[in-house]
Amino acid sequence: MKVGVSFISSDYDLETTIKKIDESTADYIHVDMMDGQFVETANFTTQDIKKMFKGCNKKLDVHMMVCSPNKYVRDFSKIPNVEYLTLHYESHRRPIDVINMIRHTNMKVGIAINPETKVSHIVPLLNHIDEVLVMSVKPGKGGQKFMEEVLYKIETLKDLREQNGYHYIINVDGGVNKDTIQMVKDAGADMVVSGSYVCKSDDYDKKIDSLR
Ligand code: DX5
Ligand code: ZN
Repeated sequence: MKVGVSFISSDYDLETTIKKIDESTADYIHVDMMDGQFVETANFTTQDIKKMFKGCNKKLDVHMMVCSPNKYVRDFSKIPNVEYLTLHYESHRRPIDVINMIRHTNMKVGIAINPETKVSHIVPLLNHIDEVLVMSVKPGKGGQKFMEEVLYKIETLKDLREQNGYHYIINVDGGVNKDTIQMVKDAGADMVVSGSYVCKSDDYDKKIDSLR
């Protein structure tokens, strides 16, 4: 199981948290970008993110919780650590246009779906993407309870990938910890995002290991 660590709810300050994740065994740093419109809170601009990760060794899995994700693609393409750039299906009238924009850069492209969004909505997009981010909490903040009712989507996405020869990874975001990881594994996810479980501890590697 691959593990990305989200740093928005941590016991440490931002700089320390990012350094600790960068020095940990995490596969990715999961960057939650929020604009105060798609979700209530606003946090970083692309310029902030560029500065925050200068000198960082890990690859970034960027989760854009923003309206008009198309506006940010160019800036992200100039940040060398970004491997995946993920937009929300619910954030744009024509997600395929944004997917195509991202595909014209050197970044991989992901599509995130809110807990209430069905997989059937994104079926036409599955052939064009590298990651599906299945939200297991309402997007917007860390430390929420894992929603078991989204587990079937992981199974569906796995079946669809097998039947059609698609190549996306299935990543699960929100409320992932030692008590919920087994369900996610059993459903067939390739990767999880974990925030508070890892960052509100003093041994990041131990927590990350317990999710593998
Ligand atoms: C939720 C974010 C998540 C979140 C995960 O809006 O997308 O990445 O920070 O944090 P935990 O693991 O605490 O739910
Ligand atoms: Zn996230």
